[in-house]
Amino acid sequence: MRIAVYPGSFDPITIGHLDIIERASKVFDEIIVGVFVNPDKKGLFTISERVSLIERVTSNYPNVTVQSCSGLLVNFMKANNAKIIVKGLRAVSDFEYEFHMSMMNNKLEPTIETVFMMTSAKYLFLSSSSVRQIAMFGGCVKGLVPDEIIKDIMDKTSNNLGG
Ligand code: PNS
Repeated sequence: MRIAVYPGSFDPITIGHLDIIERASKVFDEIIVGVFVNPDKKGLFTISERVSLIERVTSNYPNVTVQSCSGLLVNFMKANNAKIIVKGLRAVSDFEYEFHMSMMNNKLEPTIETVFMMTSAKYLFLSSSSVRQIAMFGGCVKGLVPDEIIKDIMDKTSNNLGG
């Protein structure tokens, strides 16, 4: 049984993330989407909100589950009997950070492998941070995030702007 974890902040999930989840779900027996707090990033959605948004848009994939996580990724992997980390790579600019993370995770737990999937060309420009910024300033996020969560993003950002 090949269990892979796809970790990230997912604040919010984009169609680029969903593309990786769908492709990874065909390669591995089970995908656990791990929603982590990234202390370096200011959050828009709470962790439990992110989990439920991801659950909503992945409900068609029977081998995909979603969990919130805190602490180290390698400990979460061990607790879930997973040996593979799946990450999406958009561009050379992602490489240095992802290379560093994969080396560090491998140092912490040598039995764990990181597998990189290249983002589909049409999603190369996409990031959660640009989605957050577009939504905050009243721009349209259609085509950037799954349609089912557009309203959640609009509600959240209009609340934020309205104080
Ligand atoms: O979507 P992101 O913000 O690029 O995801 C980063 C994430 C959550 C994968 C990364 O910050 C992470 O693995 N956090 C868990 C803590 C950890 O294990 N850090 C690795 C030691 S350097």
